[in-house]
Amino acid sequence: MGHCRRAPGPLILVPTMGALHAGHAALLDRARQLAGARGTVVASLFVNPTQFGPREDLARYPRPLAADRKLCAQHGVDVLFLPTAEAMYPGGFSTYVEEGAVSLPLCGASRPGHFRGVCTVVLKLLHIVAPAQAVFGLKDYQQCAVIRRMVRDLNLPVRIVPVATVREPDGLALSSRNRYLSDAERVQAPVLRRALLAARAAYRAGEKNAARLRQKLVATIASAPLARLDYAGVADADSLRPVRTAGRNTVMALAVFFGPTRLIDNLTLK
Ligand code: PAJ
Repeated sequence: MGHCRRAPGPLILVPTMGALHAGHAALLDRARQLAGARGTVVASLFVNPTQFGPREDLARYPRPLAADRKLCAQHGVDVLFLPTAEAMYPGGFSTYVEEGAVSLPLCGASRPGHFRGVCTVVLKLLHIVAPAQAVFGLKDYQQCAVIRRMVRDLNLPVRIVPVATVREPDGLALSSRNRYLSDAERVQAPVLRRALLAARAAYRAGEKNAARLRQKLVATIASAPLARLDYAGVADADSLRPVRTAGRNTVMALAVFFGPTRLIDNLTLK
């Protein structure tokens, strides 16, 4: 990486777990834009074992490397970083990063240890690549918020750049996990987006009570017979603590199971 540090333009990192789709491509395009012609875009592809729970999909997480390489080339990536699990977690690895507030509710409550794995691997990637800026998707809203907090708390010399969620035409947020959905589940999966839009419409029509907005989310999810709610949250957009009254700095977040497949989405009230 010494070469990259001496390169004339800025170094921009896009951390991913591979199985790249148009959502990742939007991050790569933003990184290319930030790097300019003289800067360097690094994409990391690493299926990080420490962020998967024991019952989660680590073993069957898709790893289509040839297609990923092609998409990276098409979106102006200069350097692919493909570390092995052994390189990232050598025998006896025993140091983890734990953010203690933003990572606790919502996905943190449903997936204990998940953000500890995310923070640990992202801190390692930031140290190894040493980018000026790192690009993250708002599809994983809480992940963005947790990483911002870690960067602030640990004085990391990097700017975190958020990118808006890329969606299918019917509103479903693109995700590597969408491929696990059956045809019937796929038809119902846009219910997450519909629920968030219904709650936002209620907010705009004057409903500021967070419990009633949350009820709107819950009821809309319940209207899809194959959907099973994991959580629905109406929270402060920075701390992710639940709010009683929704306002400009409120985020609404959902996690919903379709069979074993867990989908997430969110919407900020601005
Ligand atoms: P992964 O799920 O591969 O996502 C990599 C990046 O792409 C994340 O910043 C995520 O928010 C973004 N992304 C995914 N789907 C998106 C969509 N539909 N629109 C916009 N951005 C989208 O998130 C991870 O990997 C890992 O936790 C990682 C940060 C790499 C640490 O292991």
